[in-house]
Amino acid sequence: MSKISVNISQAAAVAPEATVKALLPEAADALAKVMNGTGAGNDFLGWTDLPTRTPAAELDDIIATAKRLQADCEYVVCVGIGGSYLGAKAVIEALSDSFSAYRADHRGPKVIFAGQNIGEDYLFELRNLLQGHRFGIIVISKSGTTTEPAIAFRILKEILEQQEGKQRAAERIVAITDAHRGALRQLATEEGYKTFVIDDNVGGRFSVLSPVGLLPIAVAGYDIKALMQGAAEMQKATAEPTLDNPAILYAATRNALYRAGKKIEILVNYNPKLHYFGEWWKQLYGESEGKDGKGIFPAAVDFSTDLHSMGQWIQDGERTIFETVLSVEAPEHETIVPTDNDNLDGLNYIAGRRVDEVNKMAELGTRIAHVDGGVPNLRITIPALREQWLGQLIYLFEKACGISGYMLGVNPFDQPGVESYKRNMFALLAKPGYEKETEAIRARI
Ligand code: PA5
Repeated sequence: MSKISVNISQAAAVAPEATVKALLPEAADALAKVMNGTGAGNDFLGWTDLPTRTPAAELDDIIATAKRLQADCEYVVCVGIGGSYLGAKAVIEALSDSFSAYRADHRGPKVIFAGQNIGEDYLFELRNLLQGHRFGIIVISKSGTTTEPAIAFRILKEILEQQEGKQRAAERIVAITDAHRGALRQLATEEGYKTFVIDDNVGGRFSVLSPVGLLPIAVAGYDIKALMQGAAEMQKATAEPTLDNPAILYAATRNALYRAGKKIEILVNYNPKLHYFGEWWKQLYGESEGKDGKGIFPAAVDFSTDLHSMGQWIQDGERTIFETVLSVEAPEHETIVPTDNDNLDGLNYIAGRRVDEVNKMAELGTRIAHVDGGVPNLRITIPALREQWLGQLIYLFEKACGISGYMLGVNPFDQPGVESYKRNMFALLAKPGYEKETEAIRARI
């Protein structure tokens, strides 16, 4: 069975094998906390066995709902933010034709995301796009009370109801939320929307393998059973407390690097389809580990694009950084550099070679340069950008995140810091119930 693998050999100058091995008991203890629910945040461990416990009937229901939306809609707008947005966006981008939005022969609905920002122009332009078109909405919010998606949903629902009438609009809306609580649950019940449940014990950033990620991915036309199959394979591969467990290896090595002063991790891709995978990973690790004054700062870069912007800093700036490269072994398509008789650009030395060969040499050349420049390099190899491997990669990062967070000494499953801006925003907007805060914040501005 092919699978993704983790290679730490190029981090040895700062995290030698012996140091990583010495962290194995700590990593094994952290794994036990994740598996047995004996650590902080243990009421949010429902993601650990989603790949194997999700009933086939639920996957079939998701697929049937996706087919109905595909048949009825030119556009499907997925409304959500944070963990209710990034996983689906990451997988869809990784699997999609880079130019599908511009293709006249595009089959099925175009999947669009909203509610992940409060840009007035974004919502205005989206409304313009949707006017007069058949569209559906998947509204996703675990709490059911998050402001950004609630605003977008209110605007989109109004357009849909104006275009289709209340009843037909309700048939084109699917809500994914808590089983009982929150404004969205209440709205969905009253309006009669089709719903899927986010389990209480699955936190937002760990929810991509639940209906939160699976429904948008299925609507975009991708094989969610293969995605779950890959995740199930990684669930099995990350069960044992050994360094052969890639989640332990990754978690232990990044903690070894952190303790040696490497405070910043960049997740690197050499394939633009992985840009949003980096965004998903940043949320997963940033929200899980950045607390109590601790945590590796997670950043993401697209190479070779960003070698022409961030390359100087990475090669030569403060030596507090390490990189984790997502290396895709096989592209989906072949493109050869053509021969040019005039050779005015001097490129004939690579004529007849695949573009991917050039990309791989950029990757190798950069790795050698960065390691020489004091940037430890971890490499995660992915056979191809297909559902199965993405499922493996998602589960690997989730499991490693739980282990790594416990090794760091934080609760990886809460996000108390996210509330601060909300409190201020509500106070500034004079939300009912925030009268005292409104008075206090107005005195400061
Ligand atoms: O990981 C998390 O818990 C957060 O990023 C949430 O997903 C995000 O804040 C959105 O929350 P909700 O799904 O409740 O609207």
